[in-house]
Amino acid sequence: MPVTAIVGVQWGDEGKGRIVDWLAQGADLTIRFQGGDNAGHTVINDRGSFGLHLVPSGIFNPQTTCIIGTGCAVNPDRLLAELAGLEDAGVTTRGLVVSSRAHLVMPYHPEIDSLQEARRSGGSRIGTTKRGMGPVYTDKAARCGLRVGDLLHPEYFAERLHAALARNARLFADLGVTAIDPEALLARATAWRAALADRIVDTVPLLQAALERSDRIVLEGQLGVMRDLDWGTYPFVTSSNPSASAAASGAGLPATALSEVIGVTKVYTTAVGAGPFPVELHDADGRRLQEIGREFGVTTGRRRRCGWLDGVALRYACWLNGVTGLAVTKLDVLDTFEEIKICIGYRWRGQLLHHVPDTPTFAEVEPVWETWPGWCTPTSDVRTWDGLPKAARRYLHRISKLAGAPLRLVSVGPEREQLVSLVPPSEFEAPQGGALEPAALESAAGEGGR
Ligand code: GDP
Ligand code: IMO
Ligand code: MG
Repeated sequence: MPVTAIVGVQWGDEGKGRIVDWLAQGADLTIRFQGGDNAGHTVINDRGSFGLHLVPSGIFNPQTTCIIGTGCAVNPDRLLAELAGLEDAGVTTRGLVVSSRAHLVMPYHPEIDSLQEARRSGGSRIGTTKRGMGPVYTDKAARCGLRVGDLLHPEYFAERLHAALARNARLFADLGVTAIDPEALLARATAWRAALADRIVDTVPLLQAALERSDRIVLEGQLGVMRDLDWGTYPFVTSSNPSASAAASGAGLPATALSEVIGVTKVYTTAVGAGPFPVELHDADGRRLQEIGREFGVTTGRRRRCGWLDGVALRYACWLNGVTGLAVTKLDVLDTFEEIKICIGYRWRGQLLHHVPDTPTFAEVEPVWETWPGWCTPTSDVRTWDGLPKAARRYLHRISKLAGAPLRLVSVGPEREQLVSLVPPSEFEAPQGGALEPAALESAAGEGGR
């Protein structure tokens, strides 16, 4: 069954959006399976340059139905603004629907997020995007959340809202949340209903039919494994699971439906927000990665922390996700570096670690570096594997080996076509078809690292 999940296998911002945009050219359905408008997915294609937050990156193919899945948290005002922006840019959003089971980000959720963040001191500050993710998923787990489908039942919605406000009253008072007028919130809900009712769907019959037809389905993750609620650097994580194990559930598919998992990684590493990040560079190389890679957050505009590739975290993330193929992005950013490093282990209190340890240990580890020669040749115009400089192929080969997964795509610039595809999009669902096989990689490996 041709269901492909696209997941971040670093700390987020790996370039998932541009990979989904490319793949979705041949997809019948694209489904975001978790997260909310904390995401910032950049897509640059023939329609323009876009920073998507909630709308799946398959929206540029008018033949693709885009679903905001059950695992997502939807801020209706932000969704409506995003849809209006796309329509203004000439992108039709007719094919966009929202799962009735997705949760609503209510106006008090981002406010609670900001106030909670302000209360956290120094080392405990998470550096959230302040889009309400922690509070909305807290309410979901506490069973006092409001769901998108509840909008279709005004009386039920009113009951649920009053119950949620009562349950959270003490929290609101404690944090000093702006006084909430339930009637004003109900009036807003009426406006959301009018604007969104036609887009609210039960995804079950829709996806049952899609699977029966063997439709090509792309599942889009938000963020990366190292910010996963369970598998990331807890508590410096988001409040949902951006991993492939959660993709089926969050999208509304059976667990056995996934046929491919594409892990997206940059050729170096970035992170936004706080928490352990062992490969972070505070030197000239770090500044160069930040400047050449234009590493600023799409959602908050924050400067991203930059470092060399963390091969240990990459391997961990690829294993956890059952990654069947790698999409490696931003190769061109390294074009002018004479030497490139990869972290292949962590040193901790005299020990050598080859796994991602618990958070307090992770905060203390030092990276063990392997150094590779750069290629000092522009790659932005390259479109074939053979056209890449040999040193770049060797470096990519090393990444594939460390990740334990074959290379599928390599990007050499932010635009849709700036991609070296090792499998044509229409054949992407074939498990092994056209992937760069180990033998071909070995021949590119040459002398290896030094
Ligand atoms: P996402 O959240 O995983 O979709 O990634 P973001 O869009 O937040 O961050 C990726 C950034 O890198 C965006 O600014 C992209 O335009 C840019 N980008 C993606 N691929 C490439 C590439 O191959 N080369 C360069 N130079 N930029 C890229
Ligand atoms: P995409 O989808 C990078 C980070 C925040 C913070 C932590 C928790 O574009 O990769 P949250 O607001 O989710 O409660 O913040 O996660 N974070 C991201 N970092 N890219 C994102 O999305 C992110 N979404 C959240 O900086 O450290
Ligand atoms: Mg992003």
